[in-house]
Amino acid sequence: FRTEDEQTEDYLFKIVLIGDSAVGKSNLLARFARDEFYPNSKSTIGVEFQTQKIEINGKEIKAQIWDTAGQERFRAVTSAYYRGAVGALLVYDISRRQTFESIGRWLNELHTHSDMNVVTILVGNKTDLRDAREVRVSEGKALAEAQGLFFIETSALDSSNVGVAFQTVVREIF
Ligand code: GTP
Ligand code: MG
Repeated sequence: FRTEDEQTEDYLFKIVLIGDSAVGKSNLLARFARDEFYPNSKSTIGVEFQTQKIEINGKEIKAQIWDTAGQERFRAVTSAYYRGAVGALLVYDISRRQTFESIGRWLNELHTHSDMNVVTILVGNKTDLRDAREVRVSEGKALAEAQGLFFIETSALDSSNVGVAFQTVVREIF
C-alpha cells in the first residue's frame, strides 16, 4: 500500500551521520526530522534511521538519514552502514577538540567503505556552547577546504543551521 503522496516521490537518497560519541548526531537528526531535542539522550545502539522529505527545484526528495553510535562497541556492521550512501555529515563538537581531531579517522573510514564521490559536509555542532568553544571556526573551514568538504557550524539545541546542513548535502547530490 502506498499513499498518493509517496507516489509523487522522485528520489531517495541515503545519507549517513558519522563522528565521535556525544557530538550530537542523533540530536541533529531529531531536530531536522521532528524538530525535537533531547537534553539527556543516551548513546545510540546499533543503527536508526529516519526519512525526511526535502523539496529542491520543485522535486520532492526523500532523504533516508542513517544514524549509528560513535562508540565502536555499540556500532553496527560498518560496511552495511555505509553501503549505498550518497551523502555524509561528518560531525564534531566545537566544545571538545578531541572530536575534531578524530575527523581524519572518520574520513578514512568513510572513504574505505563508500564511493569517493559521496557528498560530505563537515559539521561543527553545539555552537550554543560559546564559552566552551575549543575549535575555532577558521580551523573547521580550513580542514574542510583541505579535504574538499562542505562546512557548516550548527546547534541542535537552538536549531541554528540544522536544516541548512542537511539541505546542502541533498542539493549537491541532486
Ligand atoms: P552517540 O550516539 O553516542 O554516537 O552520540 P551522538 O553523537 O548521537 O550524540 P547525542 O545526539 O546523543 O548528543 C549527546 C549529548 O549532547 C546529549 O546530551 C545532547 O543533549 C547534547 N547535544 C547534542 N547537540 C547539542 C547542541 O547542539 N548543543 C548542546 N549544548 N548540546 C547538544
Ligand atoms: Mg547517537
